[in-house]
Amino acid sequence: MKNVFKNFGIKENKSIPVDEFINKALYNPKFGFYSKKIPFGRKGDFVTAPTISNLFSEIIAIWVVSTWEKFGKPEKFNFVELGPGDGSLSKVLVNIFKHFTEFNSSLNMFLYEKSKLLSKIQKNKIKNSKVKWIKNFNEIKKGPVIFFGNEFFDAIPIKQFLKKDNLFLEKYYTTSVCGLRETYKLASKVDVLKIKSFDTLKNKSFIEFPKLGFLELRKITKKIFAQNGGILLIDYGYLNSHYKNTLQAIKKNKKINISNISNYLGDVDITSLVNFSLLKEFFLKNNLKVSKIVSQKFFLERMGIFERFKILEKNMTLKQKNYITNTLNRLLNNKHMGELFKVIFAYKSKSNNFFGFN
Ligand SMILES: C[S@@+](CC[C@H](N)C(=O)[O-])C[C@H]1O[C@@H](n2cnc3c(N)ncnc32)[C@H](O)[C@@H]1O
Repeated sequence: MKNVFKNFGIKENKSIPVDEFINKALYNPKFGFYSKKIPFGRKGDFVTAPTISNLFSEIIAIWVVSTWEKFGKPEKFNFVELGPGDGSLSKVLVNIFKHFTEFNSSLNMFLYEKSKLLSKIQKNKIKNSKVKWIKNFNEIKKGPVIFFGNEFFDAIPIKQFLKKDNLFLEKYYTTSVCGLRETYKLASKVDVLKIKSFDTLKNKSFIEFPKLGFLELRKITKKIFAQNGGILLIDYGYLNSHYKNTLQAIKKNKKINISNISNYLGDVDITSLVNFSLLKEFFLKNNLKVSKIVSQKFFLERMGIFERFKILEKNMTLKQKNYITNTLNRLLNNKHMGELFKVIFAYKSKSNNFFGFN
């Protein structure tokens, strides 16, 4: 077998931690999964809520406007989409926001994207002087700031650990001409201390730890703490701890056995399930308040997705109606995204009771 890892900057017979390996596989500037092609949509490798339904994005737009109202309609207000993918959501947002003139004149909108290819695609799709692409949250100056990410956190690679007789061992992938092997090394003291600081991870023999994800969230929570605002995250995840390996590789909407990943490197998405209990603990530790964690179905229904559907269907052909009913079912059905996806809102504000959670 030729050395497939070389293109990704990974040497042969080398052991690298799970998160570093995935980072290279997904984000290598030339060969990484998110650098090579657009993975979204029915013909791509996976579908996401904004790429299957504008209804989803419309509901998020209404939620953002309602949240601005809850913050007391500040004259300066900021919205940041985290990991905007092909730009579908923000494109809808920009159009809906125009209908709310007072809100729109207070708004500065930012897109935060790691992939050069996707940034380019987003820039072609969203041509609006209000929207700015940023790499650093310090560019956001005055006013409360709302961050939003759909399937953002699950796209950030995680670390995995085994705990044996009070010893923490970190999982590595070791490369060879034959492919990949899982190996374990003693975990660093810094990582062990971090893991031990979370009650959610106590007494677990297998631990998934989003070290890189928490670095991103730390920058965000600091910003929210300084300027007020919040972060709304929607992701595929769980509430009560799994103790299981939740890493999965997806190609053309199908799961691939992760041990065969070397055959598909750069052509498969690698994600993990988000531990929402851990996220909640993280936000509380970082001095934010956290709303009740709800399912996507609960959130979208409370925000009036059916009512919006009823208005839209009046002017639709039968074909359009069938299509939109189908996508609504995917968003809300318990076996699809409805229950599997969860919604969390962490915030700093005098207001509580934001729409969608009660
Ligand atoms: C699974 S996709 C979701 C895309 C989009 N939100 C959607 O729902 O269709 C993950 C997105 O997050 C971006 N991303 C992942 N890690 C990132 C990071 N650390 N900083 C900025 N963007 C990141 C990816 O490039 C991609 O755009």
